[in-house]
Amino acid sequence: MLGRLNHVAIAVRDLSAASAVYRETLGAQVSEPQQLIEHGVTVVFVTLPNTKIELLEPLGEGSPIAKFLEKSPDGGMHHVCYEVDDIIAARDRLKAQGARVLGDGNPRLGAHGKPVLFLHPKDFCGTLVELEQV
Ligand code: CO
Repeated sequence: MLGRLNHVAIAVRDLSAASAVYRETLGAQVSEPQQLIEHGVTVVFVTLPNTKIELLEPLGEGSPIAKFLEKSPDGGMHHVCYEVDDIIAARDRLKAQGARVLGDGNPRLGAHGKPVLFLHPKDFCGTLVELEQV
């Protein structure tokens, strides 16, 4: 079911400072910031030869990453995103096996304009998992 690792997401307090770390210190290619109001985050993507790193900064009241940053004030790894061919088939298979899909269980459009779902970290080795249909 799982395809490529699409990205690893890191939550940060200060997106411009984090972008500078990746652009200047690490010498990577960093995209322009993109506000995802529905997801409550501002995001940049760091493009690597084999995958991407998504840097997330809270956007607006009740951002889903605000609590995470209260516990991890220096920032930290927030989720991993795996590609799937058919997100509805993947969701139905996971639900049939007892895995919890977050939200109302329906895919939403993610940062790449493609359908995404999030899976409960307690069901996946303590790591929040995003699935993206590609
Ligand atoms: Co993501």
